[in-house]
Amino acid sequence: MSFEQMWRDLTPVGRAASSGGYFRQPFASAERECVSWFEQECAARGLEMQRDGNGNLVAWWWPSGPPPGDSRASGGIVTGSHLDSVLDGGAYDGPLGVVSALAAIDLLRERGITPSKPIGVVAFVEEEGSRFGLACLGSRLLTGATTAEAATELRDRDGVFLLDAMSDAGLEPDLGRSGLLEGAECFVELHVEQGRDLVHRNTPIGVASAIWPHGRYRFDFTGQANHAGTTRMEDRVDPMLTYAMTALAANKQARLFDSRATFGRVDVQPNGTNAVPSRVTGWLDARAETSAGLEEMLAAIGRLAEERAGRDGTEVTVTEESVSPEVTFDPGLAARVAAQDDDAWPVIATMAGHDAGVLSAAGVPTAMLFVRNPTGISHSPDERAEMSDCLLGVEALASTLVRLAS
Ligand code: GLV
Ligand code: MN
Ligand code: MN
Repeated sequence: MSFEQMWRDLTPVGRAASSGGYFRQPFASAERECVSWFEQECAARGLEMQRDGNGNLVAWWWPSGPPPGDSRASGGIVTGSHLDSVLDGGAYDGPLGVVSALAAIDLLRERGITPSKPIGVVAFVEEEGSRFGLACLGSRLLTGATTAEAATELRDRDGVFLLDAMSDAGLEPDLGRSGLLEGAECFVELHVEQGRDLVHRNTPIGVASAIWPHGRYRFDFTGQANHAGTTRMEDRVDPMLTYAMTALAANKQARLFDSRATFGRVDVQPNGTNAVPSRVTGWLDARAETSAGLEEMLAAIGRLAEERAGRDGTEVTVTEESVSPEVTFDPGLAARVAAQDDDAWPVIATMAGHDAGVLSAAGVPTAMLFVRNPTGISHSPDERAEMSDCLLGVEALASTLVRLAS
């Protein structure tokens, strides 16, 4: 089946009619439909599906027959990405890498090219952390970067535990480090670019050099609930004010540090129009070029929040929910992937997190290919890639797999 056909089949799944954005949260119906679609596409190609107890899947193409033994990934080249989305996300972040991987296998088979190593197509679960809050949960569990104990504590916004969500989806959870990709020779993730570097360079394909260190931090601001009409302005203990000033301070600090800071999620208690809130919880996503820069910026934001809390009579506590260190992808592998017959794809940095970063941090030689995004917009229904660039991405991935598998 062609890339175009696969893309057409997958496009309606989990798309909201109102915004055109995607809601493919892990272990919920739309994401499970994407997983079923993936399983069917893999079965139609005769790929051998393997799963782990975390919800990750890998489908193997054994050009010269499956190796004996348990460690099926041994010596294999793995590609793929994730099928989940952020809330109201775009179509490309994740699925482009999975669909391109299947299309690249089709292309190699059509051309009669038989790689000398097995090729695995992986679909990692909960990459975005949109349901359980921890980014790259599937790859973190698989590699042991997150423990089963820590994951067992995770709940979604409705209070549903991860294990219950998995069981409700018909899975038999067995959380923790898994051997699913053990022995894999390398991992290559193709991804839509989440910026306009390739647009500025006037080229459809790029290769990743590094991922900025980034983290998620929960700020709990507490005050005193009171009547919105009868409470004099000078008598209030309003955590919304502390939160609002902290959001402004985070924006300013990110500019001063040439970094990124975003409050994209807020929870207000009791969330009534005619009451001063008792509590505001805001989640800060912060990213910087270096870990030291990230820590410095966070310390500055925390200090400013505390100062303001002092003036408002409120309290603030900061809890680190997840931190991903800086990742520098294997430079030799990046150069090998980037090298073309008479040219080279540009090697560019990214400020977005990826399962590729988790695998790289776990010692798997890892590379990423980016496909140009005309607007650079991502994590939004407006995320785009031209079909012609997607097809060039498939060609790029296919040629990369051949180079790495020979
Ligand atoms: C994942 O896409 C992230 O960078 O948050
Ligand atoms: Mn994303
Ligand atoms: Mn992604």
